[in-house]
Amino acid sequence: MPFLYIDRGEEQATMDDYAQFIAKVKRKTGIDLSLYKEAQMRRRLASLYMKKGLKSFAELFAAMEKEPALWHECLDRMTINVSEFYRNAKRWEVLEHTILPRLLAENPRPNVWSAACSTGEEPYTLAMVLAKRLPLHRVSVLATDIDDNALARARLGLYSERSLVELPEEMRKKFFTKEGEYYKIDEKIKQTVKFQKHNLLADPFPRNMDLIVCRNVLIYFTEEAKRMLYRKFHDALRTGGVLFVGSTEQIFNPGLYGFEVEETFFYRKK
Ligand SMILES: C[S@@+](CC[C@H](N)C(=O)[O-])C[C@H]1O[C@@H](n2cnc3c(N)ncnc32)[C@H](O)[C@@H]1O
Repeated sequence: MPFLYIDRGEEQATMDDYAQFIAKVKRKTGIDLSLYKEAQMRRRLASLYMKKGLKSFAELFAAMEKEPALWHECLDRMTINVSEFYRNAKRWEVLEHTILPRLLAENPRPNVWSAACSTGEEPYTLAMVLAKRLPLHRVSVLATDIDDNALARARLGLYSERSLVELPEEMRKKFFTKEGEYYKIDEKIKQTVKFQKHNLLADPFPRNMDLIVCRNVLIYFTEEAKRMLYRKFHDALRTGGVLFVGSTEQIFNPGLYGFEVEETFFYRKK
């Protein structure tokens, strides 16, 4: 099966090709792809250059330099924007009924951050859940992502039916209006969320957070990057504050980073 055979020299060449691509992307954008799991990222980006009829990462980078639209396509491959309102419903119930009552008793004006918020479903879910327990003027959610396109869609606040499948009916009725085939998020909820561009792997973190929600992005990062992020999340929280992670992202040995498990997927800063 000669087509499956890659000799050592060729293997080295493809590794160098990718390594050089990573270095050039970092110089140009500040995005450090070496902190993302390599096999996955290489596969996604290689499928982009193949789709364009190119033969290597070097050719891809050269094409991106000539054709700015290709940067967007490349960024789209790097950042997977899939999201949903009330994603993994059971976890949001735990947040609402177990975690929030304690956090709000300790601080009735909580600082809340949705880190890697994608197209807005997660921070708007947070705002809606908080609005059940707080007057709206005390609800404030910081929502950040590395991807400008995702942030632009988040600010628009228009969603298809598919994004709302997990959302309880009563919340859908209360916080959305139907516009044609789209659902529009309530303007007052929208105003409680502040969207900002932020690279988790390079930019400074906010401080004194009561709750950080960072879900379904850690899985894309290397172990080294995750360890760095756990420490930075720990520094960003107040004592007693909580980090809420995705349903495949449990922290192995949270004590190492100064966390204790409050509920599965919820880590309290000691
Ligand atoms: C799969 S989405 C998760 C969205 C949401 N948190 C959820 O669970 O539904 C992953 C998001 O991580 C963002 N992302 C990837 N790398 C990032 C980085 N270095 N800094 C900030 N956001 C990043 C992507 O742009 C994408 O919007």
